[in-house]
Amino acid sequence: MIVLGIESSCDETGVALVETAGTQVPVLRAHALHSQVEMHQAYGGVVPELASRDHIRRVLPLAEQVLAEAGCRLPDIDVVAYTRGPGLAGALLVGAGVACALGAALGKPVLGVHHLEGHLLSPFLGQDPPQFPFIALLVSGGHTQLMQVEGVGSYRMLGETIDDAAGEAFDKSAKLLGLGYPGGPALSRLAQQGDPAAFKLPRPLLHSGDLDFSFAGLKTAVLTQVNKLGGELQARKADLAASTEAAIVDVLVKKSLAALESSGLQRIVVAGGVGANRLLRAQLDAACRKRGVRVHYPELALCTDNGAMIALAAAMRLQAGVEQARLSYAFDVKPRWPLDALAGA
Ligand code: KG4
Ligand code: ZN
Repeated sequence: MIVLGIESSCDETGVALVETAGTQVPVLRAHALHSQVEMHQAYGGVVPELASRDHIRRVLPLAEQVLAEAGCRLPDIDVVAYTRGPGLAGALLVGAGVACALGAALGKPVLGVHHLEGHLLSPFLGQDPPQFPFIALLVSGGHTQLMQVEGVGSYRMLGETIDDAAGEAFDKSAKLLGLGYPGGPALSRLAQQGDPAAFKLPRPLLHSGDLDFSFAGLKTAVLTQVNKLGGELQARKADLAASTEAAIVDVLVKKSLAALESSGLQRIVVAGGVGANRLLRAQLDAACRKRGVRVHYPELALCTDNGAMIALAAAMRLQAGVEQARLSYAFDVKPRWPLDALAGA
């Protein structure tokens, strides 16, 4: 079975083809991506209307590209999958519209996929695929969640952010430091030249006894430091970046360990854009090694938004029999869509 996946929930247009055989983990045949980062940079963040318009321009050329790369033709596609949510409504509508039109034209079934399920399952496309059950740490620009994953479609929320997401904390702090958009990678790069202990920044909810997160206070603390430093900011920027990254990573690692401990599970999957963060990977790896816990990451190129994870999630849902693709082409999108509401969606 060949599944075409289309991702257009935010500022990346991603298209991919995966192939499944029986119950084996799907194989990625080709994927192509266009990032809108440069276009949004001038505005310091994603401009939703510009995002939608750019998805329209990019999606078909990207689809042609993956078909050519995989040596496939349109009639070879068995299922067309797309991101149904969560994300920007206008951006989601582009992918959903194109996927359903393609399905209708080819007479092939379509399947709307949850963006976060794509992130969560993305390590299955890596060199070291996980096995169920596991804890999932989902850390993206819009979400910070710890989930207990029993199998495809079985996701129990253990904790989540009560305000900003981890990626948002990176992005907003980076903006305060004048590092532009997207801030995560830029802040992380600068942090390598700084001292993580230079500034004492808060670790919100670290000892809350639950698995929830809060990052809004950290952003305020960074703002306070920026104002205090005034003209000295330039000289201390790397130290402040390093201290900010250390605070975010510290909370993510400690809460992940608490989730592993309370669930008794020995396996964790890290997914979403912040999963590309070097310090997070190093600290989580070290802590898990000590405890005999296996950590799985997606390939670096599949940490941020992409079409491969959407095609993969669709393929795995179909393989597991938790959902059927439909031969009806009316569509909706779900800009807000909790992952644990997915059962029976
Ligand atoms: O998963 P993703 O591509 O999009 C969403 O679904 O939100 O995640 C994007 C987020 C952004 O906030 C970006 O700053 C952050 O991931 N990010 C990073 C790194 N690479 C991307 N944050 C910290 N360190 C990185 N290396
Ligand atoms: Zn994402």
